[in-house]
Amino acid sequence: MAQQRIISLFGSTGSIGCSSIDLLQRDREFFAVDTLVAYRNVALLAEQALACHAKLAVIGDESLLPSLQEALAGSGIEVAGGRGAVLEAAARPVDLMVSALVGAAGLEPTLCALGAGVQVALANKESLVCAGHLVKAALCKAGKPLLPVDSEHNAIFQVFEGRNEAAVEKLVLTASGGPFRTLERAQMADVTPAQALKHPNWDMGQRISIDSATMVNKGLEFIEALHLFPVSVEQVEVLVHPQSLIHSMVQYRDGSMLAQLGTPDMRIPISYCLNYPQRGQVPAQRLDLAQIGQMTFEAPDESRFPALALARQVAQLGDGAGTAYNGADEVAVAAFLQGQIGFLRIVDCIEHVLNVLDKRQMLVQPERLEDVLGLDGEVRKLAGEYIANTGR
Ligand SMILES: NC(=O)c1ccc[n+]([C@@H]2O[C@H](COP(=O)([O-])OP(=O)(O)OC[C@H]3O[C@@H](n4cnc5c(N)ncnc54)[C@H](OP(=O)(O)O)[C@@H]3O)[C@@H](O)[C@H]2O)c1
Repeated sequence: MAQQRIISLFGSTGSIGCSSIDLLQRDREFFAVDTLVAYRNVALLAEQALACHAKLAVIGDESLLPSLQEALAGSGIEVAGGRGAVLEAAARPVDLMVSALVGAAGLEPTLCALGAGVQVALANKESLVCAGHLVKAALCKAGKPLLPVDSEHNAIFQVFEGRNEAAVEKLVLTASGGPFRTLERAQMADVTPAQALKHPNWDMGQRISIDSATMVNKGLEFIEALHLFPVSVEQVEVLVHPQSLIHSMVQYRDGSMLAQLGTPDMRIPISYCLNYPQRGQVPAQRLDLAQIGQMTFEAPDESRFPALALARQVAQLGDGAGTAYNGADEVAVAAFLQGQIGFLRIVDCIEHVLNVLDKRQMLVQPERLEDVLGLDGEVRKLAGEYIANTGR
């Protein structure tokens, strides 16, 4: 029997977290769960910890620690709460840490795991967008590849021939186009959070669903790709593919284009990371290409989705601009979900914050983690002010 793989799962109660739990539960002989981390969902975290026989359950919101203690009393499962406990848990010696918290909150745990020499499966793209240089420096120390969970980057990781790095012409990041792919900008002004959350192909957490509708998610992924693979801004292309069956492609200089295909089920890329370098068994629906018949493609329309062009500029400016792009979006998405601003104001808010910081010459490369966190705080303040002063 193969040696058991010890896993810690950060963001276990989220969309990626629940898909990961499903896979871990299906192969209990091969996987053992060490730590589960969530933020506020005590009931689900406790249920998962019991079902997986986790050693430790951590709740990010410290005020909820007594509830977690009560829910797991007598189980023998260790419990902890608060930001410090989350970071301590990230440094535990496991075989793989799945980094699936949402937002910039995922950066420090990712760095803590890498700093402790733990291999990371990265769903939290924000870690790379905000502090790619710190993540890469920590990776060098850990000496193990970062495994991308994002389906597009996972696809590229699967077909990127390291031995032929110099022969790569371009990466093609596919995008579904989101729920408003065919809407005019004027029509987008009045869309509701419920409409924006309704992704045509994927079932995901709230923030990434809204980001798919604005295409900020593709912008974040564009920047993520530049950190993960040795290519320039000019070598990354976004291609709208509404069926989400081809998850991304690499084009080589001999004209070959290598793609990875599969049904839109995040368990496929998650399983790839959990089992790397082997492949696990995933009960995802198989592609029936004869029945599908057709796949379609179109160029993204950057006049209707300005988040993409903005991301290209951000990628050239570096991690300071990445921190601003991400942080302003997190604040604006929360405000949109609460009905405080209209849909189009989300990207306006990001642009506003980038402009203000640019004028103040604050979009420089943040050297240390404290610089990234300091800038992130300033970004959130500016985004909050923009929202308070702007109509819908
Ligand atoms: N969903 C997808 O299909 C998908 C695909 C590709 C990439 N990703 C990336 O994966 C990450 C997670 O996305 P998701 O859709 O799974 O998000 P989600 O459903 O909103 O789940 C987020 C998870 O993070 C936890 N969390 C949030 N803030 C935290 C904090 N400050 N401290 C500790 N835990 C915290 C939440 O706990 P509570 O539930 O207790 O609040 C929850 O477990 C994001 O970076 C996203 O871009 C997601």
